[in-house]
Amino acid sequence: MAYKLNVNGRVTTVDVSPDTPLLWVIRDVLNLHGTKYGCGIGQCGACTVHLGGRAVRSCQTPVSAATSAPITTIEGLSADGTHPVQVAWQEIDVPQCGYCQAGQMMSAAALLARNPKPSDKEIDSAMNGNLCRCGTYLRIRQAIHKAAEHGNTASARTVQTAEASGIK
Ligand code: FES
Ligand code: FES
Repeated sequence: MAYKLNVNGRVTTVDVSPDTPLLWVIRDVLNLHGTKYGCGIGQCGACTVHLGGRAVRSCQTPVSAATSAPITTIEGLSADGTHPVQVAWQEIDVPQCGYCQAGQMMSAAALLARNPKPSDKEIDSAMNGNLCRCGTYLRIRQAIHKAAEHGNTASARTVQTAEASGIK
């Protein structure tokens, strides 16, 4: 069956069965391999993508449920690696083996979009479902705080630029 998906700003049609997990459409049909398969049962978060801006487990999302809102994968988080989460992840040098990190970053980006300055407790609660067998949790938390600073700096800069140019 044909499904029209908006993935990273590009509309594409895929021909798969309705219960095909979005993860396999992303990886095997669209050849976007940044999103990882970990457990396949919604327990690890490695497959996290955004659907309509919300973090979802793509291994547990049938393609038929993914047509109504834009999908963002790690490849679409920014065009040039400058999303505050990507910058902070590099600055803190978060990854160890790296396998879980695309999912971690997508969950972190979704958290910051709805809560630009999360507390430690809010970070721990939002990131709870993203497992890291290398134990990078403390660096992840640090990087989310750093990304929050970058996000706020970016907004402040935008406001200053807008004010300087007379835009309200
Ligand atoms: S692969 Fe989807 S939650 Fe683990
Ligand atoms: S960095 Fe290795 S699983 Fe998270």
